[in-house]
Amino acid sequence: MTLVRLNKYLSEQGIASRREADKLIAAGLVKVNGKVMTEMGTKVDKEVDKVEVDEEQVKKYKKLVYIALNKPKGYVCSTKPTREDPDIVTDLVDVGERIYPVGRLDKETSGLLLLTNDGTLVNQIIHPSSESEKEYEVTFHKPIPEGALDKLRAGVKLAGESTLPTKVKKVGPAKIHIILKEGKNRQVRRICQKVGYPVNTLKRIRIKNLYLGELPIGRWWNLTESEVKGLKS
Ligand code: URA
Repeated sequence: MTLVRLNKYLSEQGIASRREADKLIAAGLVKVNGKVMTEMGTKVDKEVDKVEVDEEQVKKYKKLVYIALNKPKGYVCSTKPTREDPDIVTDLVDVGERIYPVGRLDKETSGLLLLTNDGTLVNQIIHPSSESEKEYEVTFHKPIPEGALDKLRAGVKLAGESTLPTKVKKVGPAKIHIILKEGKNRQVRRICQKVGYPVNTLKRIRIKNLYLGELPIGRWWNLTESEVKGLKS
């Protein structure tokens, strides 16, 4: 038997902070084994008891957090460190809420990464049907010719599967900006490799309406209401 206080249980599940969980409990939004529990000290057995919360109502009590981070190279998009990958992006942001990255950037990729505790944003940004634009700055080891850029623009087949056409702008002899509307695993690296130009450095510089701008590496900001609105539109 593993007994924990109900508010601790709810925070461990990522549903709300402990303080918010107390408000949910007091408001009668939490059921244990089918019964509404409004007592603060209620304890539950993690392995046996069935805890239910009214997800829709929870949003009113939960402080939603939206962060834009300039992810450094070497950090992984995860909430749990491992021996191989001890450096995780959530360690870079201290907001007193349990947040998680929206989608992924590879360990070796830097740039704009969103972190939030709002599950609906995740779907709006990374679900393929959202077709959200993501823009990357890519550098190569050697100058890239127009022919290779045209192949990237047309869409490249990866493991027999076609990818959507992309928008590509050359910004230097060995540097481009590329805009994708999908997010297959390591897509930029793989399509560039496929046309014969392996990526040297990769940085995400925009997600939909949100630009990385001059934000220093490892720094972050809280999104404004209008930035969040833009992302959700
Ligand atoms: N494409 C990649 O190859 N890596 C990323 O991190 C993002 C897009």
